Amino acid sequence: MNKLNVIFLIIVFLLTSCVGSDKKTAKKEVVSAEIPASEMEKGAQLYRTKCMNCHMKTGSGIEKFYPPLANSDYLKKHTEDAIKMVKFGSNKPIKVNGVKYNSLMPASGLTDKELAVVFNYILNSWGNNYGQVTLEQVKAAER
Ligand code: HEC
Repeated sequence: MNKLNVIFLIIVFLLTSCVGSDKKTAKKEVVSAEIPASEMEKGAQLYRTKCMNCHMKTGSGIEKFYPPLANSDYLKKHTEDAIKMVKFGSNKPIKVNGVKYNSLMPASGLTDKELAVVFNYILNSWGNNYGQVTLEQVKAAER
């Protein structure tokens, strides 16, 4: 093998190992990579002013009164319905992680855009990895 071939092989090796490690980090950080930090910060701010009083700082809620958002099977499985509940308000009986809730959540009063932002925040905070909603999905949500 001449010198050029060796250099060529080294370059190929370096390139492929770089690509490989990029893929790994991309996979690990799917959430933060998909939602820009600025959007998460906006969501956190909306959450603090509009939701935290009831659902608490860490999304834990208060058992039997305010359902949790962190690790909530309801939010995960019924995201579309959860959007409706927050958009229009809700006081129907629901079960979250096996616990019954039937208290009142008033309509949020947020715009559809703000609702999408705060939903993407709660869907991807406190260990939740529940995907994302689009503005179109929020707009389409009807009672
Ligand atoms: C006044 C207290 C209160 C506030 C403020 C409030 N919620 Fe709720 N939330 C509730 C209650 C009570 C329920 C259960 C309602 C029912 O039984 O129909 C609920 C249910 C939910 C659910 C579905 C159940 C679950 O735990 O997954 C989601 C999602 C949710 N709220 C998100 C939000 C978001 C986002 C905000 C802020 C924009 C918000 N809530 C503000 C009290 C509140």
